[in-house]
Amino acid sequence: MSSKMRLLYKMVNSYLKVRLFNKPAPISILIDITNQCPKVCCYCDSWKQAPMYMATNDILKLLKELDSAGVSRITFHGGDPLMHPDFKRIIRAAREYNFFITISVRETLIRKHIEDLKFVDLVFVSFDGNESAHDAQKGKGSFEELMQAFQALKENRISFQTTTVMTRINKGDIDFITDTAKKFDFYTHFQPLQFPPFKKIDQSALKNPDDNPLAPLILSKEEYAEIGRRLLELKSRGVHIATSKKIIKLLFIDWPIPTLTFLPYRLDKSIKCWSGLLYNSIGVTGELFPCAYYYPTYLQIKPSNAFTEGFENALKKNIKDESCQTCMIPCFMELNAMFSLNIGTIINWLPKVIGKYNIIKKGMNK
Ligand SMILES: C[S@@+](CC[C@H](N)C(=O)[O-])C[C@H]1O[C@@H](n2cnc3c(N)ncnc32)[C@H](O)[C@@H]1O
Repeated sequence: MSSKMRLLYKMVNSYLKVRLFNKPAPISILIDITNQCPKVCCYCDSWKQAPMYMATNDILKLLKELDSAGVSRITFHGGDPLMHPDFKRIIRAAREYNFFITISVRETLIRKHIEDLKFVDLVFVSFDGNESAHDAQKGKGSFEELMQAFQALKENRISFQTTTVMTRINKGDIDFITDTAKKFDFYTHFQPLQFPPFKKIDQSALKNPDDNPLAPLILSKEEYAEIGRRLLELKSRGVHIATSKKIIKLLFIDWPIPTLTFLPYRLDKSIKCWSGLLYNSIGVTGELFPCAYYYPTYLQIKPSNAFTEGFENALKKNIKDESCQTCMIPCFMELNAMFSLNIGTIINWLPKVIGKYNIIKKGMNK
């Protein structure tokens, strides 16, 4: 069986195990290998934490365990994974296994690591608008680095997509972003600002939204809805937007209160949250979480640990708090829609994965 077929077989196998027996069998695992970033984003507080890097030996052992457990996709995340001093070794080790590999990075270190990024199937880079908007949200000089990074990725035929956080600063930049996507031949995601980031249903955000330092950036429900309608219109015209129509509609048009990042109910009855069953996250010190955005809550209830207990044991003990049912995090909502068999979302993603970019095939050409 070819590597590509084995990968598809693994995915279907995990999916059936979960649907038939309701036992965790993750297809996708996100791993935070460091919490450090080369530059500070105005809406993210990851940089405020003490610097942490996963030990390389722990990562190498984990990759082996994830392979044995039948995991199909891994995402190197952070912080910026390119900040890990052993990234070169880690990415080559990951490529030895039959994983579909994605990574989420800032623009700053892309050119330095361009040879390493050839081992990745799909690179995600943040892109927040024209020079003044991007630099305002991502730090001075970032836009220039970003354009150089796009050029380097394109020249080296490395598949990439971008993610834009929509705020009051860049709400007029949608056309600039999609024009740039066309120029460099990539697809782009749009997402609302999470307010506050990395917290579960935070009642204080509801009571006192003005106290949040992100208050000047957040848009009103009507403004997000207008953005959503514009994105849907552009997408219907074939513009390079990666976000599926279903998720654009849910996160921009139907989302009830912009200051809430999590809802305690299903916003779309047909879309279930599959975190903890079909996808999980591993924190920088090895804790296994149902999803990355549970960190603050799960640290209070002592999550199982993939390093001290082994991945499979940690998975068996993994606890899922069901108090949130829908989130504003597009990457997880896209997975939730696909795993809930939403046909439109599956059709949106298939050509971007095995069609035009053919990234699975490329990743398997070792
Ligand atoms: C947390 S970062 C980690 C990966 C990498 N450091 C980066 O900047 O892309 C992943 C994505 O989350 C986005 N992000 C961070 N804080 C956010 C917030 N408060 N609201 C929405 N998106 C946010 C970033 O712009 C980025 O696209």
